[in-house]
Amino acid sequence: MDRIKIIGGNELNGIIPISGAKNAALPLMIASLLTDDTLTLENLPRLADVEQLTRILGNHGVDVSVSGRREKQSQSYARTVSFTARHIVDTTAPYELVSKMRASFWVIGPLLARMGTAKVSLPGGCAIGTRPVDLFIDGLEALGADIEIENGYVIANAKSGLKGADFEFSKVSVGATHVMMMAATLAKGTTRISNAAREPEVSDLAKCLNAMGAKISGAGTSVITIEGVTSLSGARHRVLPDRIETGTYAMAVAMTGGDVVLAGTSSDLLNSALDTLRTTGTEVTSVENGIRVRRQGGDIQPVDVSTDPFPGFPTDLQAQFMGLMTMANGVSKITETIFENRFMHVQELARLGANISLDGQTATVTGVKELKGAPVMATDLRASSALVIAGLVADGETNVNRVYHLDRGFEQLEEKLTRCGANVSRVSD
Ligand code: EPZ
Repeated sequence: MDRIKIIGGNELNGIIPISGAKNAALPLMIASLLTDDTLTLENLPRLADVEQLTRILGNHGVDVSVSGRREKQSQSYARTVSFTARHIVDTTAPYELVSKMRASFWVIGPLLARMGTAKVSLPGGCAIGTRPVDLFIDGLEALGADIEIENGYVIANAKSGLKGADFEFSKVSVGATHVMMMAATLAKGTTRISNAAREPEVSDLAKCLNAMGAKISGAGTSVITIEGVTSLSGARHRVLPDRIETGTYAMAVAMTGGDVVLAGTSSDLLNSALDTLRTTGTEVTSVENGIRVRRQGGDIQPVDVSTDPFPGFPTDLQAQFMGLMTMANGVSKITETIFENRFMHVQELARLGANISLDGQTATVTGVKELKGAPVMATDLRASSALVIAGLVADGETNVNRVYHLDRGFEQLEEKLTRCGANVSRVSD
């Protein structure tokens, strides 16, 4: 099994191109199920999750074709990929496929809206909490679907089609917002979703759906209005930059020191995290086509953080920020409010010499002067990147095992870091 080997101690200097966002790419790919025409996605990152979802969509009958230059692209190897769901051949998403990735559950929305029926296995995904599906069920039932759960499957039917409705989510959910928005595009009448997720990936999906002929307004706010249409067409859409990848590398630079331009991304996607980073003493400025992150000497200042839905501090950057705080000059408190079990990186960071104590949903991090390299285990996608950040400054050699977690969400991680001076390599044992 592959591992990432890091020899800590090098500053990061240079340019890191930011890839298309995994968490936008996945719902956008799923949106292809809504039309018999072709949806072409540019800037699609090459990630294990994208490959896995491609297999799942293939199972439903989606034809996938990859275009564009691949070999000579030096900076990024994103692809342009076309998805055509001319005929849906199967409305069942089986356990064997869905259990590997939670987002694949989201096919339930388009399948139900277009075919009037869907049978989708209850999902799997990162082990960061219980992650129920009640909000999806509430939302789809509000649109008139008849839903049962049987033998680990959610079976949804709307034989005479979905009907627009006013619905308020009891809790903010990114996935449930995606699904309800997709389903409502083909419902009869108007749907109004309140307490919707405001994440940039929701806005990106709405933008793509509108290019396909949907009538969505308000995406990016907590009230989204969707006027149903009878059918959607194909479109061409560019996947927005990955704000979590952006934030992860920004924190890596804050940790190692140095001067890096994160290219092809925008500070609007992660203002809260960048403001927090500034408070730690890191210089963060918007530059043409990107963000410049710089720290030249000086201590890392401790900052308290609490995760929140967008526009708050993202839960997907909590582990990385904790990695940074392990070397801060003082004590910081990090509170996780979205997922109840998202602290599995704590014990791994401790193996590197971090001083962290946990009390419920709050971690107290007492900065140490030095981390020391050690073998550590990646436990979930974002936690793994926190270990890489810590490894970049740890004295000696750190080996991050179970690299497949990183491959789910970080395109060319070791190449991007190496080009900026880090000593990072992938080792196959
Ligand atoms: C998305 O997951 C992201 N995944 C996650 O990123 C991210 O951490 C999360 O949003 C929060 O920002 C993708 O976009 C593919 P939620 P999602 O539904 O949609 C609870 C990563 O590392 N909830 O917004 O699954 C849930 O348990 C991943 O890239 C219910 O209670 O998250 C959680 O506490 C990890 N019932 C909260 O809502 C439901 O029916 C928010 O989860 C659904 C969710």
